[in-house]
Amino acid sequence: MKLSIVSSQEEGITLAYQMLADAILGGAKTLGLATGATPIPLYQKLVASDLDFSDVVACNLDEYVGLAAHHPQSYAFFMAHYLFSRKPFKAHYIPNGAAAIPQEEAKRYDELLQENPIDLQVLGLGENGHIGFNEPGTLFEETTHVVNLAPSTIAANSRFFDNEADVPKQAITMGLANIMASQSVLLLAFGAKKAKAVKGMIDGNVTQALPASVLQRHSSVHVIVDQEAAVLVTQ
Ligand code: GLP
Repeated sequence: MKLSIVSSQEEGITLAYQMLADAILGGAKTLGLATGATPIPLYQKLVASDLDFSDVVACNLDEYVGLAAHHPQSYAFFMAHYLFSRKPFKAHYIPNGAAAIPQEEAKRYDELLQENPIDLQVLGLGENGHIGFNEPGTLFEETTHVVNLAPSTIAANSRFFDNEADVPKQAITMGLANIMASQSVLLLAFGAKKAKAVKGMIDGNVTQALPASVLQRHSSVHVIVDQEAAVLVTQ
């Protein structure tokens, strides 16, 4: 695991952008993408760049169950807004939150991932150490599945909704096995709220209690954090 501690979020995003640009220029054809506030400035930089994604496929990590792509809080809407409506990709995929049977949609999405092996997976980090929506307790072997969101995740993500009661209780997410199958991983975490999860991910034991800790077993992970997020890291 390679760790870069940067002095500002802006510096971290610039570094992440460079890594992503290098991957694209180096021939990466499939990107795994994340939502959340953290990658927004990265997507803005991609949009402003002259990088060409017309031969690149993007597969997103996750989607809320029950939210169709036109729902403003859906991750499909988020991705269209920040990236896909502004930068042409060859194709972009995300689980369908409005699918009648979410478990079947998870299976379909997993098959799609088998057909599109990910070269570079971009990740944020949940305050409880989740990646995608793989909550504490998720088996490392899980592939794409339906998850019951942890109360702490519902509380953390309520900032994007009018009320906490409006936050969906379930999501479809790539599993940890899918994330581990990507050729390389770029994880971004900024701010003091992520400090505990960052410490567990880097310094702690590899444990299901902190899903991101599984990344210690991946051979190509680059973690970019600011000083606030790195404050508890000792290694
Ligand atoms: C959500 C997403 C994650 C994301 C996390 C952190 O739960 N499912 O993929 O990493 O939020 O979000 P933020 O970047 O807003 O802190």
